[in-house]
Amino acid sequence: MSPFDTPIDRRGSDSIKWNRYAGRDILPLWVADMDFAAPPAVLDALHRRIEHGILGYGGPWPSLTESVLAHLADEYDWSVEADWLVWLPGLVSGLNVACRAVDGDVLTAAPIYPPFLSAPLFAGRRLQRAELACTGKGWHFDRSALASALTAATRLFLLCHPHNPVGRCWRRDELLDLAAFAEAKDLVVCSDEIHCGLILDTDRRHIPFASLSPEAARRSITLMAPSKTFNIPGLGCAFAVIPDAKLRHRFERAMAGIVPHVNVLGLAACEAAYRDSGDWHRALIDYLRANRDLVSAAVKRDRRIKMEPVEATYLAWVDVRELGLSHPAAHFEAHGLGLSDGADFGTPGWLRLNFGCPRSTLDEALNRFGNACRTA
Ligand SMILES: Cc1ncc(COP(=O)(O)O)c(C=O)c1O
Repeated sequence: MSPFDTPIDRRGSDSIKWNRYAGRDILPLWVADMDFAAPPAVLDALHRRIEHGILGYGGPWPSLTESVLAHLADEYDWSVEADWLVWLPGLVSGLNVACRAVDGDVLTAAPIYPPFLSAPLFAGRRLQRAELACTGKGWHFDRSALASALTAATRLFLLCHPHNPVGRCWRRDELLDLAAFAEAKDLVVCSDEIHCGLILDTDRRHIPFASLSPEAARRSITLMAPSKTFNIPGLGCAFAVIPDAKLRHRFERAMAGIVPHVNVLGLAACEAAYRDSGDWHRALIDYLRANRDLVSAAVKRDRRIKMEPVEATYLAWVDVRELGLSHPAAHFEAHGLGLSDGADFGTPGWLRLNFGCPRSTLDEALNRFGNACRTA
């Protein structure tokens, strides 16, 4: 039995995932956190930090920075200098700051995690949206769609890598193509790599956009965090990596007065996650891969439902358009399953299912999924 098999009751806690359906028999498989305890090394570090007793304003310390740099070097063969790091309380803050720091219109590719669609507008920028293509070879970038969405005023491309919700781990050739596009159009690329520790396919590796070449690095803002991989998003600890000093200063200026110090518990957890939680992480990936396979098998039982392979993340992006439902998310809720509504990602008719949960929860959820499909 795996430690991930043990259900932990989150009902009546502070969990936004579980409280959405409080008092109703609806399994919540929506927002992207997992129903697993954080790694033991992270919990130990938090206990030690609490024992200290004083919880004043905090900032990074040398062994924390070293753990981040060593993690990036070991996992992604990416050599990062300490000066390039800008600590943040979250990735969504980072996306919003990037839109304020870079003057001009913003381009992104949908379907996409909803803050990619709202951050440009909050910053008073025009949003240009291209559609990702899905043409029998899985999801991919459509270079001509990107080029026609772009205007002369576009200066920022928001990249989601790996991509939430379609689950792609972008390959080197695809990234090089994007880098060439960014170079040709003089775009800064803000690459949200929050899911980079969640590559499920054994033949895939995460390649940070900024690690492609010095030119890509120069025009990059990479956003990362231990939050998704180690299931600590409630601790609010993330960072940007910005190699170019001018761009980094613009980013820091845009943060001024708005973005608070990072939570000291998040910083303590980050060090232990990156430095001391490798075995836990490997076991998690095996567990999630098996969950992913159960979801794809369940989806295949109904010919009307479509899903491309999920290479990364614990999120399945499911096409239920052929069920002909006017409000798919409400229909699945009525059958006891709370999923994310594709409309929020810019594409109605799709649903996102979070399979980061114990197998017993997933089995029950997939039974309910099957019932909901049969009655549609
Ligand atoms: C692509 C992506 N970026 C950012 C976030 C949220 O980041 P944070 O909680 O650090 O703001 C999520 C959460 O699901 C996500 O999927």
